[in-house]
Order: sequence, then structure tokens, then C-alpha cells
Amino acid sequence: MPQESTPRRERKRTVQQMVLVGVIASAAGIALGLSIHWFPPADSTQADKVDTLWDVLIIATVPVFVLVTVVVLFSVLEFRMRPGEENLDGPPIHGSTRLEVIWTAVPAILIVGLVTYAYIVLHDIEKAPAAGNPERHVAVTGQQFTWSFAYNEGGKKFTSAQLYLPVGESVKFDVGSKDVIHDFWVPDFRMKIDAVPGITTHYRITPKASAIGNHDIVCAELCGLGHAFMRQTAHVLSKPDFDKWVQSKIAKPAATAGGAQPATIDAKKLFTEGNPDTSATACGTCHTLADAGTTATTGPVLDKVLKGKDAAFIKQSILQPSAVIAPGYQDGIMPSNFGDTLSAEQVDALVQYLSKVTNK
Ligand code: CUA
Repeated sequence: MPQESTPRRERKRTVQQMVLVGVIASAAGIALGLSIHWFPPADSTQADKVDTLWDVLIIATVPVFVLVTVVVLFSVLEFRMRPGEENLDGPPIHGSTRLEVIWTAVPAILIVGLVTYAYIVLHDIEKAPAAGNPERHVAVTGQQFTWSFAYNEGGKKFTSAQLYLPVGESVKFDVGSKDVIHDFWVPDFRMKIDAVPGITTHYRITPKASAIGNHDIVCAELCGLGHAFMRQTAHVLSKPDFDKWVQSKIAKPAATAGGAQPATIDAKKLFTEGNPDTSATACGTCHTLADAGTTATTGPVLDKVLKGKDAAFIKQSILQPSAVIAPGYQDGIMPSNFGDTLSAEQVDALVQYLSKVTNK
């Protein structure tokens, strides 16, 4: 026989308690959610909008979580089976149209609202700068396990193993890959996109004034053994410093070219910048070498592993990186195609250079 197990007055009190607990827990949850520093510094104008979206999501979702949790906990307490109720059955209830309409409509409104807002934010962070404002394109190429950056500054083309950007100017990245799928991500800028062989993907950012300095570039798509080491640096410079850097990139080849004699190979430059024409990776992207001022740690520190080694060993290490693996490092991370991407003269110049500076 069905029974009224909770008198009406008592049930009303229970609902009041639930509402009170829910409001307090929601306020505490939102305050906690907003006070946590979830992300690295927001150093692009896009980053601010992304972070605001995150805060809105916290404000909208914490009360939902609290509502569900409070109702479940109160139900467990309030309607638990007491001694002597083992054989009791609840009243035969057949749905409640009003409740069903409410619990369908409220989540639907919430989701449509958040989706609309997220779409507006996405549209906003992807839009081109207003007419008249400069925007540069930088072609980003991913390959196992490094990034390279191709510039076109006033018709002068050059590549760099590190990313340089002027503060306050929009940059559009044209992202591609030479081998497998990578993902181009600078966490401080928040934006992120896959680098997919065969297609070009894009996103744009504008570094804020606070961005002057260095920022990690990471690969965010598992791409092979060296994935975790596919890290480089984005340097955000003031506009005059950036212009100076561009001048240093375009002036040097012009100075060494020309004249009847073939330009001598600048091995140190080759080490730090690679061979842009064949996109040979710069050694300095992965290796520390005191003389060249590089500090990367993906591969062995050359000042140590090449000390006391002869030219033949160094040449073999460049052309056949699998022949000898330094202790603590893995095979298959260093590209094995330097025989193709560097000329014989360039390899010899590198060998001479490395031999000299590691055996001082
Ligand atoms: Cu490239 Cu992970």
C-alpha cells in the first residue's frame, strides 16, 4: 500500500535547505574557479578573449555541477531506507510533464547560449585586422622534430629556425608539414592548429605589449619519438628591434654574395640557421654549442660529446646519426637526411668548425 513517507511541511524545509546549500556551494565554486591561475600569461590580444570565454564557462557550469551533486546527496540522505522499510515500495509515479519540460528546456537554453557566445568569440579571434593595419604572413613548417619559419619582408625572403615577431602587429601563420601531422602551439598566445601534410592551415595572433620576451613553441600532436622535444622559442621584439633583426637576416647574404669568388661557407651560421634553400634543420635547434651560443637540449651537448673526437667521427655523426648514439639519447630523433639537405662543402665546413670549437 503506497504511503506518504514525508509530510508536506518537512519536504518544503528540505527544498529550502537544498537551495541554500546549492547557492553557497555555487558561489564558493565560482570564486574558487575564477581565482585559480589556469593558464600561462595571456600575451596576445586573442588570449584575453579566450580566457574570458573560460571564465564564462566556469560561471555557467559550476552551478549545474552543484545542482546535480546537491540533489543526489540530499536524495541519498532523505530517501535512504530506514530499518523496517525493507519491504516498502514507493508510490507508483508515472512521469511529470512539467518537470520533463523544465529539465529539457533549461539545458537547451544554456547550451544554445554558450554555443552562440563561443561562436562569436571564435569569429572575433579569427578576424583580420582592420583595413590599413599591417599584417605579415609567416610560413610555419613542421617536420620531425623541428619547426622552421619562412618570412617575406618587403619582398626579401628568408627563413629562421626561431620565430621572431614585432609587438603589436598582427601575424598570420600559414602552417604546413613535411612529414606527419604536428600541431603548432604557443601556449602564451592560446591559439593552436594542426600542421597537416598537403594542406595549409592558418591562424593569426597579435602579440600584446606584455609579450616582449621569449615564449615556448610546442608541438601538440604526437608525431614520433622526438615529439616531446619539438620545442622552439618565439621571440617577441619591439618594432625597431624586429626591423634590426630583419636587416641582419637580409643584409648578410647580400654582403657575401657578389664578386667572382664563391662565398666561403659560414659554418657557424649554418649551425645556427640551417640551410634555408633545402630546409636543412639548424643543428643549434637541438644541440647546445657554446661557441654558437645555442642552448637546446633535444640532442646531446656537442661541447661534451664531440670533445676529443676526430673529424671522421663528427662527419659520421652528421651523415649517419644512427651509427653512434650518445648515452641517454634515443635513435631516430636526429634527421638522417643531412647528406641530401647539405652540400658536401657545407658538411665539410661544419665538420671543420665543430672539430675546432669542441677541441679548444
Ligand atoms: Cu611534432 Cu609532435
